Amino acid sequence: MQKHILEIIYLIASVTFIGGLKFLGHPSTARRGNLLAAFGMTLAIFGTLFLYQTDQGTSLKNLPFIFLALGIGTLLGFVAAKKVQMTAMPEMVSLFNGMGGACAMLISLIEFQHIHEKSPLIILAGLIIGSISFSGSIVAWGKLSGKIKDFNLKFQQYISILLLLVIVYFAYDVSCLDASTLTTSFYTLLALSLLYGVLFVFPIGGADMPVVISLLNSFTGVAAACGGFLYDNKVMLVGGILVGSAGTLLTIVMCNAMNRSLLNVLIGNFGGSAAASGSTGGSGIQGNIKELTASDAAILMKYAKKVVIVPGYGLAVAQAQHVVHELEMLLESEGIEVKYAIHPVAGRMPGHMNVLLAESNVSYDKLVEMEEINPEFTTTDVVLVVGANDVVNPAAKTDPSSPIYGMPILDVESAQHVIVNKRSMKAGYAGIENELFYHAKTSMLFGDAKKALTQLVSEIKALG
Ligand code: TAP
Repeated sequence: MQKHILEIIYLIASVTFIGGLKFLGHPSTARRGNLLAAFGMTLAIFGTLFLYQTDQGTSLKNLPFIFLALGIGTLLGFVAAKKVQMTAMPEMVSLFNGMGGACAMLISLIEFQHIHEKSPLIILAGLIIGSISFSGSIVAWGKLSGKIKDFNLKFQQYISILLLLVIVYFAYDVSCLDASTLTTSFYTLLALSLLYGVLFVFPIGGADMPVVISLLNSFTGVAAACGGFLYDNKVMLVGGILVGSAGTLLTIVMCNAMNRSLLNVLIGNFGGSAAASGSTGGSGIQGNIKELTASDAAILMKYAKKVVIVPGYGLAVAQAQHVVHELEMLLESEGIEVKYAIHPVAGRMPGHMNVLLAESNVSYDKLVEMEEINPEFTTTDVVLVVGANDVVNPAAKTDPSSPIYGMPILDVESAQHVIVNKRSMKAGYAGIENELFYHAKTSMLFGDAKKALTQLVSEIKALG
């Protein structure tokens, strides 16, 4: 009886995961989706703790220890998620993902002796993929938080391929053993897999990390699904498969939005530390830039009929989401139509701008996707670009030698006037010059986004 109730609980939990994922597809339902899936997971955990029985009819032991671990984990996760800054979200996701990989690794480590006979290949797959995901995610977290510096080994790719072959050899060796105890080969396999994860992530450009984190996320999903298969646990299997496939799809979507292949992300070192630090600030483009003051910008905007705001990474860095919303409301109160143009990879993680603007209660219907807003620029009086660079770089359309060539971009230069707010002439993530800044229609409003927009708001108010 208990067994059947548990199966039903697992079924309900699996349905909540699928429903949760569906709700995550839109900003207005994303919060609900997260809560729904978390509810399903809680149900599955407590169902397992209280209803699980072995074939011999015994229940789970060591419940006090399990609850202690659950309590500590919940507290740490809760505090970390509450404290994290939006710009530091990719590194937190990476850290949490690493924990998932570590779980899959530990399951294989512990269960190898007990259920090795049942499915050695699945145990070893869980061990290898989980270990790679764990060590890779920790390196990704370290690189993003600045604790680990970029490091490139000579012949890196060849070493990685060789290592992968050695891992396959050891996996074969261990799977052939009639092992009831853990062997040296098993531990060697574990160590090599951990090393592979480190070498896999080390050479990747700092700013490419979100793509890699998404890929590692899918690895963790597959490793968890291996655990579900081992234990014949449906909810773990479904959860693992969902994470694995969602992570893979997200990786593909991000690569497509940047018009880059996954291979290029993994070995291309695009947006590495040099670009990320904006060291290519020198001008290779012929022409002059026009600078304008906040009061000039205020006049341009106050007398516009339609304004489109293009948010980018700099808006997140400056935490200017509240003042941008204030500007939007102010302009609307003057009868000006205001929209936000959302590029799929603006910022540093999927949906970055949506989440950021939702934080300051910008209405979802004002956020317009790239394909929809692009034809509207011709009827726009003023475009205000706030801390965005690559996503408005015309080189993506005109310069075949540019690293972003082919990446779909926002056609802001079709508008009457373009105001670009950033602190300097430094490059963005891709580390390249932007011809838009030299365009006859463009004026630069230099300064930190929060300060510049605050000043802009007060100048518009002063115009009465
Ligand atoms: P970027 O091209 O990185 O440009 C951001 C600009 O913001 C910089 O040029 C910087 O110029 C400015 N900035 C920084 N701090 C600022 C501040 N406090 N106030 C005002 N401006 C500030 O950003 P983007 O246009 O959003 O493009 C995103 C890039 O990231 C794309 O190349 C994309 O492929 C890449 N990427 C995105 C993702 C996802 S999923 N979103 C994942 C990986 C990579 P100054 O230093 O002169 O101020």
